[in-house]
Amino acid sequence: MNIPFRELRVAVAGGSGTVGRHVVDLLRAAGHEPVVLTRASGVDLLDGTHLAGALQGVEAVVDVSSTSTASAKRSTRFFETVTRNLLGAEREAGVGHHVALSVIGAERVGASYYAGKAAQERVIMAEPGGWSLLRVAQFHELTEFLVDNYHVGPLRVVPQMRAQPIAAAEVAAELVSIALGAPRGLVRDLAGPREERVSDMVRRYLRATGKSRPVLEVFVPGAWGRGMRSGTFLPAPGTRQSRQSFEVWLDDVAR
Ligand SMILES: NC(=O)c1ccc[n+]([C@@H]2O[C@H](COP(=O)([O-])OP(=O)(O)OC[C@H]3O[C@@H](n4cnc5c(N)ncnc54)[C@H](OP(=O)(O)O)[C@@H]3O)[C@@H](O)[C@H]2O)c1
Repeated sequence: MNIPFRELRVAVAGGSGTVGRHVVDLLRAAGHEPVVLTRASGVDLLDGTHLAGALQGVEAVVDVSSTSTASAKRSTRFFETVTRNLLGAEREAGVGHHVALSVIGAERVGASYYAGKAAQERVIMAEPGGWSLLRVAQFHELTEFLVDNYHVGPLRVVPQMRAQPIAAAEVAAELVSIALGAPRGLVRDLAGPREERVSDMVRRYLRATGKSRPVLEVFVPGAWGRGMRSGTFLPAPGTRQSRQSFEVWLDDVAR
């Protein structure tokens, strides 16, 4: 049977971010209409400015908004408030599908930034239906974030961390495929193809992009540091794996 194509209006909260911009591009390339919800586009998800109007005619919302805080309190406030505001506005506008992205292991660590992700998951899972929640591993692009944001002079400071990173573009493709279908609840986790040591990823990123900077791997105390070191963010055995390795992503970035 041939199902006729129907253009969908899909809102992307955080549509200018690392994964959000891929979601927007993929929706557009597939003939759908993305609606970007970011402060830069005039929508504030924390206080609800212009949110109701932006959701008119929208059939699904992909929430890939984020905050860069490492404070558990601020992260929890951000993700709880944004999620509640979105879910409330979606109800009012008759949006049938809320798609959210979380991090593998966030609910087990429950500290720092990840306390907010765990809180976001709880708010969504308390909803009776109409949602899909995908947990993924750290993005390859985390290396760029660390290089740009964690430094003392030329020295790049990287936490002791084990990860099985995934390309943000592959995460976006999975989110688009989920958003175009019926709500699925908790979706099977998705991780990259290989475990990496994050300090090693940063060193290889710096080398590949021709930036010669020293890298210091540091011990981070507390539940967050323990989680990063011990592999709490690693996928369980048998977790679905994406295709693009960090090495191949790096070749693309360096080209
Ligand atoms: N990065 C990773 O390694 C990783 C791994 C697994 C899962 N995730 C999850 O993926 C999601 C996206 O992360 P990301 O790294 O792609 O995010 P990001 O690059 O930091 O982008 C954040 C986005 O949120 C928007 N935003 C922030 N505050 C807002 C507000 N008050 N109102 C409206 N928009 C706001 C920003 O736009 P404006 O600044 O213009 O508002 C931007 O588009 C998060 O849920 C994160 O937990 C990330």
